[in-house]
Amino acid sequence: MADMLAGSVLITGCNRGLGLEMIRQLVTSSTPPRVVIGTCRKPDEALQTTYCKETAPDETSLNLKRLAKVQQIGSQNQIYTEFLALESNVVDYKSLPGLVEEVGAAVGPQGLNLLINNAGIMDKCSSQMFGIPLEHLEPHTFSNVMETNTTAPLMLVKEMLPLLRKAATVGGAIGVRRAAVVNISSIMGSMVVSRIVRKACDVSCTVRKVCDVNCTVSKAALNMLTKILAMNFGDEGLMFVAIHPGWVQTDMGTSSGMITTQESISRIFKTLPTLMEKHNGLLVSYDGTVMPW
Ligand SMILES: NC(=O)c1ccc[n+]([C@@H]2O[C@H](COP(=O)([O-])OP(=O)(O)OC[C@H]3O[C@@H](n4cnc5c(N)ncnc54)[C@H](OP(=O)(O)O)[C@@H]3O)[C@@H](O)[C@H]2O)c1
Repeated sequence: MADMLAGSVLITGCNRGLGLEMIRQLVTSSTPPRVVIGTCRKPDEALQTTYCKETAPDETSLNLKRLAKVQQIGSQNQIYTEFLALESNVVDYKSLPGLVEEVGAAVGPQGLNLLINNAGIMDKCSSQMFGIPLEHLEPHTFSNVMETNTTAPLMLVKEMLPLLRKAATVGGAIGVRRAAVVNISSIMGSMVVSRIVRKACDVSCTVRKVCDVNCTVSKAALNMLTKILAMNFGDEGLMFVAIHPGWVQTDMGTSSGMITTQESISRIFKTLPTLMEKHNGLLVSYDGTVMPW
């Protein structure tokens, strides 16, 4: 990341997978944001285990001591970044006012520049690679996925809107450096692309039944949500984009994923600063390609 992604960044679901990698790349960047806030269900546990590998022998582990870091740029200038791990179960809406207060105190009068709705779920069962076959689908499993992947991001945007608006009033070009919401979505939520992917899978026979009804429907709704929010709040200087992270090697993407978390996130962080007013409300792939709905 050559330039700072944004002054302040809030990311949900940061204890593993893509969210953890986002935190790692932000706090170890040579141009880190002023404030990085990661939320997860059990931050104390994450701080003690995932984030706090004291010896940090490999590049992928986060060392908490490096998080409250002071970076030397040349001999004089120093960059300070503050990292906060806050508790949030994204579907616990009662806790949102408390979270807004904590985030507001951390970001200060400049407001929140970038909210990344990353936390998400997908049901799995042994008979197919992803998801649950229709014959075994229960209403509550469908509703759970819809709630985590669609309702929760909407509720977080609703609560964080005053902090995002504060950042937007500072002015400047529309984009992630000013005030933006990035919804981590999927091409499987695109009516056009999911059909093409499904067809390709059927032809190659390597990945059968790749589609998960719950996840694809929830991401299609998230895509529409992104578009509606952009239409409603774009004129206030806010940007909303849905990002497809690729098929990534995480617990959700499985080890069959085509790219690593490092590749997905480094490309997303290169793409995000290139997005501008014309991208408001669009679905964009991690490599910057605009995807059809
Ligand atoms: N991997 C892929 O190939 C792929 C492809 C397309 C889109 N995506 C999207 O990318 C995002 C991240 O996925 P991933 O691959 O990193 O998945 P992952 O490894 O399974 O991680 C999911 C993260 O979401 C968190 N989460 C789930 N429910 C939550 C809740 N109620 N409250 C708070 N946190 C919650 C999990 O926390 P816990 O540890 O507490 O469960 C975990 O940190 C998701 O939105 C996913 O749909 C992934």
